[in-house]
Amino acid sequence: MSQNTPEISRPAGRRKTRAGQRGRMTQAAALDTVNQLLGDSPNRRDLLIEHLHRIQDHIGYLSLAHLRALAERMNLPMAAVYETASFYAHFDIVHDDELPPAAVTIRVCDSLACQLAGAEALSQALQQQLDPAAVRVVHAPCMGRCDAAPVVELVHNHIEQASPEKIAHALAVQAFEPAEVDWQPLAAYQAEGGYQLLADCRAGHRSVEALMTMMEQAGLRGLGGAGFPTYKKWQFVRAEPAPRYCVINADEGEPGTFKDRYYLERHPHRFLEGALISSWAIEASALYIYLRDEYPGVNQLLHAAIAELEQAGIIEPGYIIIRRGAGAYICGEESALIESLEGKPGKPRHRPPFVAQKGLFDRPTLVNNVETVYWIPLIYAKGLSGLPHKGVMDAKACAPFPYRVA
Ligand SMILES: Cc1cc2nc3c(=O)[nH]c(=O)nc-3n(C[C@H](O)[C@H](O)[C@H](O)COP(=O)(O)O)c2cc1C
Repeated sequence: MSQNTPEISRPAGRRKTRAGQRGRMTQAAALDTVNQLLGDSPNRRDLLIEHLHRIQDHIGYLSLAHLRALAERMNLPMAAVYETASFYAHFDIVHDDELPPAAVTIRVCDSLACQLAGAEALSQALQQQLDPAAVRVVHAPCMGRCDAAPVVELVHNHIEQASPEKIAHALAVQAFEPAEVDWQPLAAYQAEGGYQLLADCRAGHRSVEALMTMMEQAGLRGLGGAGFPTYKKWQFVRAEPAPRYCVINADEGEPGTFKDRYYLERHPHRFLEGALISSWAIEASALYIYLRDEYPGVNQLLHAAIAELEQAGIIEPGYIIIRRGAGAYICGEESALIESLEGKPGKPRHRPPFVAQKGLFDRPTLVNNVETVYWIPLIYAKGLSGLPHKGVMDAKACAPFPYRVA
């Protein structure tokens, strides 16, 4: 063992292997596997969580040998890799003297709405009915589907209004992937005038100042919870020197909250246009979307929508970067989110400096919630008179459902 790889003790209560069945693989074999899985992906620290996902997605868990191999490949201390992997609930670390988890995991949401809808009884029924060697049943925090409680996630498939019968059927047919959703594609969005505002901005027909005035008059405020006036955030970030970054917070994890998923699953391009206008306003070098890992279907459709934008030449390939969270509620807080984007445990930073001054990679960063930017093209298209509450739109007044836009 190198100086980089301290002995990691097994946390109390973890499974031990049966006698003679040690899970340890040789370090060379683990490095081979990790190299095969990561191919020529860069070894930048900010990609650590993405790399951990890639390994776990293929193998089903993270052994210490894999973590050591990743540390070696990325030239990072093992302590840093282990600290990050063990911070996030979705990473299953298997110690050298433990058995890997069962091949199939069912996560039962134990948030308030699901508890009220019988999640505990469902979890107990599953534990009694299913063979633990084949299917692992665990509790998990809010999955953002409170309208369809109780919810379970079978591998990557969220089963709504779940019952033992529904789950048995899904297991039998191996329905492990996210359900398809019917989202509005680029052509349909453009047919209703979508991306015209972005084009006008880029062509110089609309100024940043004019948009800021529009947002101020509309009363657009942060819909991630804090309600900070959006135009003021643009001003603060624009006042800082380039390069700057734009980050979209799609980590909604507050129990009872699923508004961002609602918009993303239906109108991803309206959201992307709002995000790109925000990026344009601060002349961002890149646009990051930090998406909670509980939304694998949204992840797929956003990749497809971004590919449409790249093919249409609306953005440069690679300009929009999606990053997966890994099951940590605290990463919804913007400075913790930025730590996570940098490949670290999501621990909030001390302030000042604020992220508008020193955010991602220590550069000025505009962080906005999904729904905040979603409204920008709509406010423009509908004009202030088209808004709820006579043009006053604040974080409290603007609950999504009464104002659903067809
Ligand atoms: C504990 C905690 C959790 C948060 N979770 C979220 C979240 O899930 N989504 C979000 O957009 N903002 C969340 N926020 C607020 C963000 O820190 C930040 O204010 C917001 O993303 C800024 O975007 P906005 O101005 O568009 O609202 C959270 C804040 C705290 C303190």
